[in-house]
Amino acid sequence: MTENIKFSDYLSAHMHGEHRTALIGMLNDITVACKKIAIAIDSGALEGNMHSLNTENVQGEVQKALDVITHEIFSETTLTSGFVVGMASEEMENIIEVDEALAPNGQYLLLFDPLDGSSNVNVNISVGTIFSILKSPLARPTLKDFLQPGTQQICAGYALYGTSTMFVFTTGEGVHGFTLDNELGEFFLTHPHMKVQEDTQEFAINMSNYRFWQAPVQRYIDECLQGEEGDREKDFNMRWVASMVAEIHRILVRGGVFMYPMDSKIKKQGGKLRLMYEANPMSMIMEQAGGLSTTGSMRILEVVPNALHQRVPVMMGSKHEIERIIAYHGKTKR
Ligand code: AHG
Ligand code: MN
Ligand code: MN
Repeated sequence: MTENIKFSDYLSAHMHGEHRTALIGMLNDITVACKKIAIAIDSGALEGNMHSLNTENVQGEVQKALDVITHEIFSETTLTSGFVVGMASEEMENIIEVDEALAPNGQYLLLFDPLDGSSNVNVNISVGTIFSILKSPLARPTLKDFLQPGTQQICAGYALYGTSTMFVFTTGEGVHGFTLDNELGEFFLTHPHMKVQEDTQEFAINMSNYRFWQAPVQRYIDECLQGEEGDREKDFNMRWVASMVAEIHRILVRGGVFMYPMDSKIKKQGGKLRLMYEANPMSMIMEQAGGLSTTGSMRILEVVPNALHQRVPVMMGSKHEIERIIAYHGKTKR
């Protein structure tokens, strides 16, 4: 533990500027929500909550009981501070309007994926929660107020429910990681100033989609697989957890590249991962840690959204590898 710094004490000491009070309030609520979610996941099977439901979310994905439970925990718990005037969740088609009485302190928007990697939840593999905070132009926001590019994020972060529960966030001043002490029920600073190595020999991609990828991605992966005998003249290792949070956390700790690129199977829907509550918050974290994040042809944080659940191709991680992937995609076209 780094000098036993409690999360709430860290916030008091490090949040400043116009958003200070709001960030302290919202981040305290968000970590409480993540602690509750950790408990719900931990006791999932004991509570009989590991099954799929007969419902689909707006993306046409079958919901798990825990997708819905974690959505409810997150959306209810994060209203306490009174700073959130509107929310958007992977599990809800429309924006969630917050009752004026619950948002006396206005004016922030909270976007979230309450349970990332939910296909892993009943097989006991790491899952997470991802969130993004934007400033709302209005006290009574409508959908168009949410459609801001990722460069406008005031704060982004995730909780990882892994071998330990961690909370990692950025407000644009580096990336800082905290580990939950289960006995004390508190997060403590364990990973200050997380930095992504510029070079790596590890990639993460769902290889089963190989035949559907575009040529630049096939070329990059081919060269990784050729290892020492190929153009790269070095061997690469591969990981695929199928939980973006777990992959990004691994990359923050030991470097690597994460890719969910465009493929012909998902072309119509624009990609796999959702821009506003998966790609944008993770891109802000990645860039703040010294890594890069791209669609292949543009910086993810500069994509101007036109829909709440818009999807986007995602490639992020160690700087020199992402630069290479961008070069393979050519400089201009989308
Ligand atoms: P979610 O569980 O929130 O729908 O997100 C799952 C995402 C992401 O976490 C992961 O990287 C990817 O989907 C896994 O996709 P495949 O099952 O196609 O590998
Ligand atoms: Mn997700
Ligand atoms: Mn999810």
